[in-house]
Amino acid sequence: MSVAVAPLTGSPAIVAALGELMIEVVAGGGSVSFLHPLDAADAHAFWSGSLAAADRGERVVLGAWDGATLAGTVTLQLDFPPNQRHRAELAKMMVPVRHRGRGIATALCREAERRAIEHGKSLLVLDTASDGGASDLYEKLGFTFAGEIPDFASKPHGGMTGTRLYWKRVGALASGA
Ligand SMILES: CC(C)(COP(=O)(O)OP(=O)(O)OC[C@H]1O[C@@H](n2cnc3c(N)ncnc32)[C@H](O)[C@@H]1OP(=O)(O)O)[C@@H](O)C(=O)NCCC(=O)NCCS
Repeated sequence: MSVAVAPLTGSPAIVAALGELMIEVVAGGGSVSFLHPLDAADAHAFWSGSLAAADRGERVVLGAWDGATLAGTVTLQLDFPPNQRHRAELAKMMVPVRHRGRGIATALCREAERRAIEHGKSLLVLDTASDGGASDLYEKLGFTFAGEIPDFASKPHGGMTGTRLYWKRVGALASGA
């Protein structure tokens, strides 16, 4: 696996690449907030907003680059209320089909965790669809399963799926210091 993982900033080319990836993932049944068919304008609006939030320091949108090709992304949300400043959330983990199985999601998660610690976070949380989500990935990365909520979201092609909630202590708390 030789991809470079780095934060993304807003440019028309990056917004277009993220939009294309999200449209592909939603068409493939991925549970990332949207329904199939995802309109390019809606995908672009989402990523423009997300990258603007990243510019404000409220999140980090990481990209995995295979040369000049965007081969994956994950978002680390940092902006939580005053009583939850120690917490960050992983979201919008997506790898294009042709790049899957190369450890790219793993590399994205590891970099997100490193950056969470750098921001002083000690708790990571995430949720993933019960039906077709990525529970195995997160369990391999040391996340603890907290529970499942049935009928949490509509699936892109119809029907409902539950969601599985995960958490992981990171930084000093993870090592017990
Ligand atoms: C889930 C996803 C990001 C994984 O990307 P990836 O780069 O192929 O993952 P990795 O190569 O790092 O896989 C590492 C491990 O995670 C597990 N894993 C990977 N994809 C998985 C999936 N779709 N479901 C369950 N486990 C998965 C495997 O156990 C794998 O270990 P192995 O290589 O020893 O078999 C990718 O399949 C994807 O984009 N799916 C659609 C969107 C989605 O469901 N995102 C999750 C939203 S929470």
